[in-house]
Amino acid sequence: MKVLLLAGGLGTRLRPLTENLPKPMAPIANRPWLEHLITHLREQGVDHFVMAARHCSDVIRRHFGDGRRWGVKIEYAVEPFPMGTAGAIKNAERFFDDCFLVFNADIVHLPELIPLLEFHRQHGGVATIALTEVDDPTSYGVVEQDDTGRILRFVEKPRPEEAPSNRINAGLYILEPDVFRYIPAQREVSIERETFPRLIQDSAGVYGMVSRGYWRDMGTPSRYRQVHWDVLDRRFPLPMQGRQVQPGVWAGEDVEFGKGVLFVPPVLIGNKVKIGDQAVIGPYAVIGDNCRIGARVHCSNSILWDRSVVRDGSRLSNSIFGYRTVAPAGEVFKNSIINDPGEVMQA
Ligand code: GTP
Repeated sequence: MKVLLLAGGLGTRLRPLTENLPKPMAPIANRPWLEHLITHLREQGVDHFVMAARHCSDVIRRHFGDGRRWGVKIEYAVEPFPMGTAGAIKNAERFFDDCFLVFNADIVHLPELIPLLEFHRQHGGVATIALTEVDDPTSYGVVEQDDTGRILRFVEKPRPEEAPSNRINAGLYILEPDVFRYIPAQREVSIERETFPRLIQDSAGVYGMVSRGYWRDMGTPSRYRQVHWDVLDRRFPLPMQGRQVQPGVWAGEDVEFGKGVLFVPPVLIGNKVKIGDQAVIGPYAVIGDNCRIGARVHCSNSILWDRSVVRDGSRLSNSIFGYRTVAPAGEVFKNSIINDPGEVMQA
């Protein structure tokens, strides 16, 4: 079974973190999300991936190469211009001559594939859309289905009383190659807005099946942070790197703590991190590999990507620092998203 990973969007809502990085490469618990996803799918039996990339595609290629290190094969379909979610699928047509899976690679979930594949085979449609159930469907495209699971229509951002269900598109599809006939070539096409409605209109057979388990779109700063808090609370049971050094505090290899460091769980610390005297870390702090935290720093509800430096006495709350960000001494960072020194944006 081949999987197409859609990883070419601009990730505008997560800027400036995504200025030089495809959103699916943003780390979740100190590892690029795409790495977690590929590892999970390999464990589900997938050994061949096609990466539909465009924005900063080199970052993905440099990281994964041909996939050998992960025990899988990875090929690349890089778009010449932004082609949208269906345009990216069309651009990768040459790789698929059988039923295949498509993932929005920025969705954080670890779905079980076998039940979805069985459902798809039993129903015989041209497309099966994995669905997730949400408490408040009013900001999503909600599906209406018949008793057999066939999707009758999508209702975009319905008012609560008009929502036909609480089921939304989970960003994971099983598609038959017939789908390519429905996607025009050489232009931007959205699968959600154009291709699926057309398939439904033509009665081509679009079905939906609920995929259970944790599901979250990491596309905005608050959702990105929430995924981390869910990992730390173990509501999202992503494998943690490191060992628990006290209840709710995980630390990697070669971590050095100064005198009087206080951890307020939950906290995750990567490898080779140094933390200065009397720092207070947590609650809800994720610190990447090779970070340097100065003396008396307070860091809560914040995420630091690898190699960030926070100098003595600074205070961070509700903030995200991109790779190698340096925070000067004695500063206060509240709701800040910084991707390089000097570039600060309020969340
Ligand atoms: P925003 O700019 O913040 O809306 O993010 P986005 O466009 O990167 O993501 P969106 O949630 O709209 O897209 C869902 C998934 O499809 C993400 O994994 C994107 O990387 C991917 N995607 C969106 N547009 C394209 C595209 O034109 N080409 C490819 N290859 N992938 C895309």
